[in-house]
Amino acid sequence: KKKLKDEIYEVNRLAALFYHRYLYSKFGQAALKYLYDRGIDDITIKRFGLGFSPPSGLELLKYLKRRNYNTDVLVSAGLVSKSSTGSYYDRFKNRVMFPIIDEKNNVIGFGGRVMDDAKPKYLNTPETVVFKKGKTLYGINYAKKSKEDMFIIVEGYMDAIALYQSGLDNVVASLGTALTLEQGRLIKKYKNTVVISYDADEAGIEATMRGLNLLDELDLNVNILTVPNGKDPDEYVRKEGFDAFKKLLEKTDTLIEYKIKKYKQDLDLEKPSDRIKYIKKVCKDLATVKDEVKRDVYISIVSEDAEIPENTIRAEIDQFVKGFL
Ligand code: UTP
Ligand code: MN
Ligand code: MN
Ligand code: MN
Ligand code: MN
Repeated sequence: KKKLKDEIYEVNRLAALFYHRYLYSKFGQAALKYLYDRGIDDITIKRFGLGFSPPSGLELLKYLKRRNYNTDVLVSAGLVSKSSTGSYYDRFKNRVMFPIIDEKNNVIGFGGRVMDDAKPKYLNTPETVVFKKGKTLYGINYAKKSKEDMFIIVEGYMDAIALYQSGLDNVVASLGTALTLEQGRLIKKYKNTVVISYDADEAGIEATMRGLNLLDELDLNVNILTVPNGKDPDEYVRKEGFDAFKKLLEKTDTLIEYKIKKYKQDLDLEKPSDRIKYIKKVCKDLATVKDEVKRDVYISIVSEDAEIPENTIRAEIDQFVKGFL
């Protein structure tokens, strides 16, 4: 007898193929146009196995039942739900479908996007025995094969796909902004360096701060790419082109640089009380910088910014270093 997990992988794969074929059927024309309008071409659609789920909410169920799959398995996979009246229907209806594939090439789940402004914008597979959102990195199946010793981590499906299409092969999406320790460990399993490239909105900036601390604690080299003008990487690369994004990749901030910038934005260094806050915060961060050359460079910057002697900064850093020991 097959294990439930393997049965789920099997029905998920069949569902992905079903959605993909449906996208290219006469019923998928609007969805295909939606993807083309967002700049996604046929090669990329195929590469990511994108699809479209029928609006009726019955067709996938019928299709898989005809192939003798048990309804229970379809429910366990998160493909089919039970209504309050006890009937079964497809979870994903009238959505552009993004199969989620793990590092072993199993189809573990799906994200489905509406084509208008309806909510939720993306519906995902619920937690199942094979799909744990917090342990998943979208795109890992491709990114792990990249020659770069680095992952670029983005928020969304479309960010990852757009960057792949533009020529990068090492992008993963955290499927939202709540980067977890498990996702961090998965990154660490394959690469030593990570570039966080989240949306330049408030949620993205806050998540960048959380994410960089988490990744730093896993001893990854963390860099931050800031997309200008509040855009996300997908919008940016589509509007400004690949070379522009490449330039941003060459100008990423290190963890300390990013934090210093952020503190300066949040604080008014003309105000003494803010200046004190700024110094204390930066010194705490600098206490973790082991490389003396690097530390000295930052100390001289902070000294100028806050208009206090370098020795005072050094003494403050020593306080924190002692505190750690
Ligand atoms: P965003 O809100 O930044 O959306 O969510 P997006 O990826 O830019 O979407 P597009 O460009 O409008 O298509 C980032 C990611 O968070 C998850 C998805 O993985 C999404 O790609 N998310 C977002 C959900 O799971 N559900 C939602 O309703 C919204
Ligand atoms: Mn976002
Ligand atoms: Mn987007
Ligand atoms: Mn976004
Ligand atoms: Mn720099």
